[in-house]
Formats: sequence, structure tokens, C-alpha cells
Amino acid sequence: MEFYPKVEKYITEIFAQSPHFRDIKHFERTVYWLKKLRPDADEALCIAAFAHDTERAFRESGIHPMAEKSSQGFLDETFMKYHQEKGAEIIVEFLKKQDAPSELTERTSMLISKHEVGGNEDQNLLKDADSISYFENQIDFFLTHKVTEVGKDKVKDKFQWMFDRISSEDARALAKPMYEQAIKRLEE
Ligand SMILES: [Fe+2]
Repeated sequence: MEFYPKVEKYITEIFAQSPHFRDIKHFERTVYWLKKLRPDADEALCIAAFAHDTERAFRESGIHPMAEKSSQGFLDETFMKYHQEKGAEIIVEFLKKQDAPSELTERTSMLISKHEVGGNEDQNLLKDADSISYFENQIDFFLTHKVTEVGKDKVKDKFQWMFDRISSEDARALAKPMYEQAIKRLEE
């Protein structure tokens, strides 16, 4: 794991200076859950788990204008595609500057570019780890900030979508109590 620590440092620094500094915990725990689901996860998977949301650090405001304008909110397809692909592009650029081998760069890009919607087994694994870590770490922020920003319905749709997209039974079982708690808190 020669490049993982470099990515971790880079992402931590850019997020610490952004309005999304709270997300660092979510990234650490995405790596944690990824390793729970696959103890021998390779370097590209670990890098992708830590860096999957990199696009967010480069936004000017908390919510991307594409998501803000859409009736679908965070679930807008064009926005989601942009979020995944832009994040992959930023990490590719960073890894190239570090002279990382092309296989590592390409595999990391392949993973991040589909981390929201999944696809192959590894993209699904990353997506599942992201969902568990989301329910574990992002719910407070959604309840205190996002509900005021976009309304309860869109937040509920997001919770539902983040749970429904989980592919593996193991990941679903881990996320379920946290998801149920999140829905309960939203409705209180
Ligand atoms: Fe995420």
C-alpha cells in the first residue's frame, strides 16, 4: 500500500479546508466497512473507499447547483453521474502526479466512477460500504442541515435510496438498524 497513505493525506487536507470537513469520518469508516466486508481488499478498493466523494471538496457551496435545481434533488441522475466521474478524474490526476502504476489508477477510477450506482462486484462492494458508513456517520448532518435546506421528503428519499441500493445481504444486515433509526428520527 504505497499510494493509499498519500491519497489519505491529500483527501484529508482538501476536505479539512472545505465546508465538508465533517465528511472525513465518513471516509475513514467507509474504509473500515469495506474491510469488514472484504478483509483482503486491495489498494485500489481502499483508495476508492477513502476518496469516493472527492468531488464534494471542490464545490463552492454545500449543495451542487445541479442537485439544487433538480426536482430529484440529490438523486438527480445527471448530478450523480457528474459526482462520480468528477471524483474519479481528480484522483486519477493526483495518482498520475505520484507516478502510480496505470493499473492502480485505472482500477481506482473504475471504482469511483460507479460508486453511487454500482455495477460489477467490486463497484457494488464499494457502494455497500459507502451506504453503511453513510447511515453510521451522515445522519445527524442530514437531520440538522439538509432537512432545512431541501425538506424532509427529499431527505427521506435519500435515506431510502441509500438503503435500497445495497447489494449484499451482509451489508444490508449491518445497515438495517441504522437505517431504521434514521427514518424514525426523521419522522419524530
Ligand atoms: Fe460517500
